[in-house]
Parts: sequence; C-alpha cells; structure tokens
Amino acid sequence: MAKEIKLFAQCRGLFSQVRHLHATAAVAAAQPRLKKFQIYRWNPDANEKPHMQEYELDLNSCGPMVLDALIKIKNDVDPTLTFRRSCREGICGSCAMNIGGVNTLACISKIDTSSSSATKIYPLPHMYVVKDLVPDMNHFYNQYKSIQPWLQRDNEKIGSQQYLQSVDDRKKLDGLYECILCACCSTSCPSYWWNGDRYLGPAVLMQAYRWIIDSRDEATANRLEKLRDPYSVYRCHTIMNCSKTCPKGLNPGKAIAEIKKLLSGIIQKDKPGLDTAALQ
Ligand code: SF4
Ligand code: SF4
Ligand code: FES
Repeated sequence: MAKEIKLFAQCRGLFSQVRHLHATAAVAAAQPRLKKFQIYRWNPDANEKPHMQEYELDLNSCGPMVLDALIKIKNDVDPTLTFRRSCREGICGSCAMNIGGVNTLACISKIDTSSSSATKIYPLPHMYVVKDLVPDMNHFYNQYKSIQPWLQRDNEKIGSQQYLQSVDDRKKLDGLYECILCACCSTSCPSYWWNGDRYLGPAVLMQAYRWIIDSRDEATANRLEKLRDPYSVYRCHTIMNCSKTCPKGLNPGKAIAEIKKLLSGIIQKDKPGLDTAALQ
C-alpha cells in the first residue's frame, strides 16, 4: 500500500510539472514578438512623392521570411502594398528587392529578429519604379534578349534528334545555368547604375558567357563580336558587388572576367600589341 501511495505522489508531481511547463509555454506564446518594417511606397496614380511607410507585425502570427511579412501586411493590414512574388522558394526571381541594404530575394531572407530596429525594404536600386516594390524590368529583359539567349547552330537537327555534349563540356555550364535572372547583381553594380543604357551588367553578361562556352552552340564568334565595344563588357571594373550579393551564390564577376579574356584574345589577334587594359 505504501508503495502505491509513493507512486501516486510521484505521478502527481510529474503531472504538476507538465502543467507548469504548459502554462509557461502558453505565457511565452501570448507574449507578442513585435517587429517593425519600413517600406518604400510610391503610387503613380496618387499625387504624392515616394515615402517610407512603417508597419508593425507580431511575428508569432507570421512566417519566418521577409516575404511572409510582406504577404501578412498585404493580407491583414494594407492591401494596397504592391510587390512581385510567385514561387516563394528562390526559383522565379520575382521577389528581388533591397532588404536591410542588401539586394536579395524576399522569400529566402529570414526576418531579422536580432535587432529591435525596423527592417527597411526598398525596390531594387537604380531602376525605374512601377509601383511600391515593383521595379520596371523592361530594359533588363531587352538587354537579355540582345545577347540571343538560345542555342544557335548552322545546321539544326530535325525533330527529336539531340545535340550531344560530353560530361566535361556539360560541367562548364555549372554555376551559370542556375541564374534565375533576378537582377540583384546588376542593380548592385555601380557601373550598371551609371552606364546601364549601354553596359549590359553582370546578369546578362553571365548569360552571354553561358552561351559563348556551350559546346553545342556554333555562334561563338558572332556572340563575341557583338560584345566587342567599349561599353557592353568593358564598363565592368571588377568591384565584385555582383558576386557578393547574388542570392544563388553565383559568380557573375568571374564570368565577365572570362569574357574579357576571350575578347582580349580576339583583339590581340586583330591588332597585335594593343593594350586591352586601356579599354577597362
Ligand atoms: S564586378 Fe563588374 S559587374 Fe560585378 S559589380 Fe563590379 S563592375 Fe559590376
Ligand atoms: S547571377 Fe545571381 S543575382 Fe544575378 S541575376 Fe543571376 S541569380 Fe540573380
Ligand atoms: S518568390 Fe520566387 S524567388 Fe522569391
């Protein structure tokens, strides 16, 4: 009997501990985790200047990423807030914006909970703004189109015939084909800010390089010839902001350096002794 009483007492102690833990967890859950966001707002249809608008969210009821916060604000606080997004997993590139001073993708950027200060969110820098966080990507896409980003062959195969490539040649495309054209790199590049009308910028140049070195493509000479002017490539001064900011961990700065090497080889062949460094 004494044994049973002891066991009963132990169980009661255990239950009360569990109850205490539940109560502590409930109190912790009830504590709001407030976080402020300051977001760039501009509406072309309203007669007002761009301004920053502050929102406060309880992170207990919000997902962990900055895109979750933006969706929460749009759904529950302010339906006029405008931004692009689609895949919410770093694949489509549409949620690119400047968060806390860094160009990145909102869907794979964790909300900064370490600081009590507001997280500032702007559209990608030095782009025309369509509305709020939506930049005008037309010029960027036109530049992409200008490098003819498709396979070019003298004799195209018919139907389902494949263009074969060795394992080693296929490997050369690694680190290039993964680009999602989010434009984080181009819009972090000072040269692109100032000469974006004629300088192609890191994202587009990396794709140009991707086609230049594709063993199946037969338009290499033509592709390089098109880049051979003082602006398209040579406005890159190897500052490397582009590679530092790429949210996919790619290295467009290196791709540009490789294009410069190829161009320099052609120029040396045409004009032996010319100092190509002077072009940079
Ligand atoms: S390395 Fe070239 S492309 Fe990249 S940020 Fe610097 S200037 Fe721009
Ligand atoms: S290289 Fe990186 S930052 Fe630049 S467009 Fe591609 S994925 Fe975006
Ligand atoms: S929503 Fe597609 S990359 Fe962020």
